Amino acid sequence: MKKSFGFLLATVALTVASFNVNAQAPASDIPADMNALMSKYTCIACHRPNQRLVGPAYADVAKKKYSNEEIVNLIYNPVPSHWPGYPPMAPMKQVPKEDAMKLAVWINSLDGSPAKKASSSKKSSTSKSTKSSTKKSA
Ligand code: HEC
Repeated sequence: MKKSFGFLLATVALTVASFNVNAQAPASDIPADMNALMSKYTCIACHRPNQRLVGPAYADVAKKKYSNEEIVNLIYNPVPSHWPGYPPMAPMKQVPKEDAMKLAVWINSLDGSPAKKASSSKKSSTSKSTKSSTKKSA
């Protein structure tokens, strides 16, 4: 009995392992669950996490520091004047609030480009204005 129980455990472990292997990551840097939502609601046609397509990169949206609720509202009622140089986005009212919120939370999590992530120990948030002289040297 003990033996077969051990075998059962091994089988379960194997099953879990192979399940993980099968759950392939999507080709790009989009998590599988977000990829599913992006595809379902066609966001993927115009948006990428770190790349400008028809619409802005989500990382750039994240930099605007909207609340999650604000992003949900913007999905339903885009404000094209926020993005000069882009065509206006059509209101995506068909997205259920729950899914819109999931996308919003993810979009906000993309703040800070991956390149910068590694060395982000500085506290000052003034890095935006690199060109303007922030130093007031005499
Ligand atoms: C047909 C192309 C297209 C599709 C599809 C699309 N977008 Fe957009 N999106 C844009 C463009 C263009 C902009 C910038 C202009 C604007 O905001 O109207 C934008 C802007 C945004 C913004 C920034 C809003 C702001 O005011 O800063 C968010 C957030 C966003 N999209 C999320 C989504 C989500 C989520 C989906 C899917 C449910 C989606 N978009 C589908 C083209 C698209």
